Amino acid sequence: MCGIVGYVGSRECTEVLLNSLSKLEYRGYDSAGIAVFENNVIKTQKSKGKIADLIAKMENEGRLEGHCGIGHTRWATHGEPSDINSHPHGNANVTIVHNGIIENYKKIKEFLERKGYVFESQTDTETAAKLLDYFYEGNPIAAIQRVLDEIEGSYALGIMFKDYPDRIYAVRKDSPLIVAVGDNESFIASDVPAVLQYTKKYYLLEQDEIAVLDKNGVEFYDDHGAPIKKELLTADFDMEAAEKGGFAHFMLKEIHEQPTAVRTTITPRISDGMPNLEECGMTYERLKNYNNIFVVACGTAMHAGLVGKYVIEKIARVPVTVDVASEFRYRDPILTDKDLVILVSQSGETADTLEALRLAKRNGADTLSIVNVKGSSIARDSDMVLYTHAGPEISVASTKAYMVQLSVFYLIAFSIAYAHGKISMEECKRLVAELQNVPNVIEEILKTPDSCQYVASQLVNSENLLYIGRGLDYALSMEGSLKLKEISYIHSESYAAGELKHGTISLVTNGMPVIAVATQRNLFDKTVSNVKEVKARGAYVILVTHKCKTVDSDAADCVISLPTIDDLLMPMTAVVPLQLIAYYTSVLRGNDVDKPRNLAKSVTVE
Ligand code: F6R
Repeated sequence: MCGIVGYVGSRECTEVLLNSLSKLEYRGYDSAGIAVFENNVIKTQKSKGKIADLIAKMENEGRLEGHCGIGHTRWATHGEPSDINSHPHGNANVTIVHNGIIENYKKIKEFLERKGYVFESQTDTETAAKLLDYFYEGNPIAAIQRVLDEIEGSYALGIMFKDYPDRIYAVRKDSPLIVAVGDNESFIASDVPAVLQYTKKYYLLEQDEIAVLDKNGVEFYDDHGAPIKKELLTADFDMEAAEKGGFAHFMLKEIHEQPTAVRTTITPRISDGMPNLEECGMTYERLKNYNNIFVVACGTAMHAGLVGKYVIEKIARVPVTVDVASEFRYRDPILTDKDLVILVSQSGETADTLEALRLAKRNGADTLSIVNVKGSSIARDSDMVLYTHAGPEISVASTKAYMVQLSVFYLIAFSIAYAHGKISMEECKRLVAELQNVPNVIEEILKTPDSCQYVASQLVNSENLLYIGRGLDYALSMEGSLKLKEISYIHSESYAAGELKHGTISLVTNGMPVIAVATQRNLFDKTVSNVKEVKARGAYVILVTHKCKTVDSDAADCVISLPTIDDLLMPMTAVVPLQLIAYYTSVLRGNDVDKPRNLAKSVTVE
């Protein structure tokens, strides 16, 4: 989604804005622009396309020179990607950059048109800019407050007023924004990596708080205009964590970071060999009280929830319902104060997941979030939070975040099972030890990517693909399929292996690739029977299974054999070849692996 940056200080502003924007490219965008105070006049430069296109334009037109400015990468919602629709928007008096959606922009636009304003873009943002201009009578904070009273929806805004050429104003609601400070310089940004090359010190801007930045520092005001003090935070990762570190792509680097990410996530939550989630108040006693568990999330995070469901239900025998957040919100779910709703989100800012959390709270359920980004909205709004410690995930396609989400679900499942007396302490310790061994097994798998590279070379010209599996393998197939389609652009479906013959098998034609995941040994023979059904119809079968399993030579064209661990934990290791297959296929197709088309990293619109 859109990225916002802003700078005021003694450095050359255009340079800082471009550097910072380039660190937000991973969020996904289709145009970019900046506004800079040049000789006390607000000047903008913007362009459809990538930051490189903006830079090319600057080379023709000349760079804006100044020490105070705002910048933006736009992920189009209202109006196609174009120079005109790119941010910043406004006029000579007030100029803004915006992330989010102004839901009532049409009404505001009609009002402003009646007042004589003329609009040039199709964006909702331009209405907010012109409304600010309309309300502005010399006091920026008063004008911002008037605008906040009128606009509905989500927003993070970076604002410049002509009369204050050495200041940036910022405000947000339901879209993230941080305010960072260095030596005689201040910044705004959608995310910490944007400013890490300049400073690690930052503030989290809360709902409807207003920040006023100049080179000497920042002042904050609440929504009534009263000054407030805020806690200065320090980023717990550095530039290196946000750089590729020798890997060709962030996705590959992040796949390789998975063993460390799992260790960092689980180690502090294991004491005396037992899972311990008390850091967030999740005691065994509390865990015993829930009648139902709901897992609500989007995309890959929801797929992690599906694995969580299988594992919790299997060993703890507590019913778990998994919902896509955008469906959960509107299906009027039956929730009580005896229910636990688990929200899963890497970014902690996904709009639908955040709203699902608010719905769960309104209905009296306990809420627990599994979140990667510290201090994000979902983490702050939920009753309990278990942070995953994956470090920044830059690639749009989520890999290490999924992995650590799984690891937290295992700890939750073991804890609930033990709390309910469904497993003994001995069995619980055995499972925890298996989980602790998973990072070593992933390291082993990562040493030999050749079979995944080979599979990618077989898939590269395919138009369609099927992933099949049963039980946990079906949950995993969904993630494998999503990973492949989002970065390779090959159409793929995941299907419950036993369900194929009820319709979908008619799609299977000669040479169509089918990736069968068969890591659950009690279901192995059943899945292999389904594999034979597609093989008999000409499918090219890739089978992912345990090393210890013997596969008939006529069952699969290619077998990816994985070290044998407890079946329950196999999703954590079996997902690695699926991630690698997607990665190498995307590379072979010449795609932009880390920034796939049309996608955004942090989905802050509904
Ligand atoms: C796919 C992917 C997305 C996200 C989804 C939720 O690789 O990354 O499907 O999982 O947009 O995002 P978060 O986890 O930030 O809520």
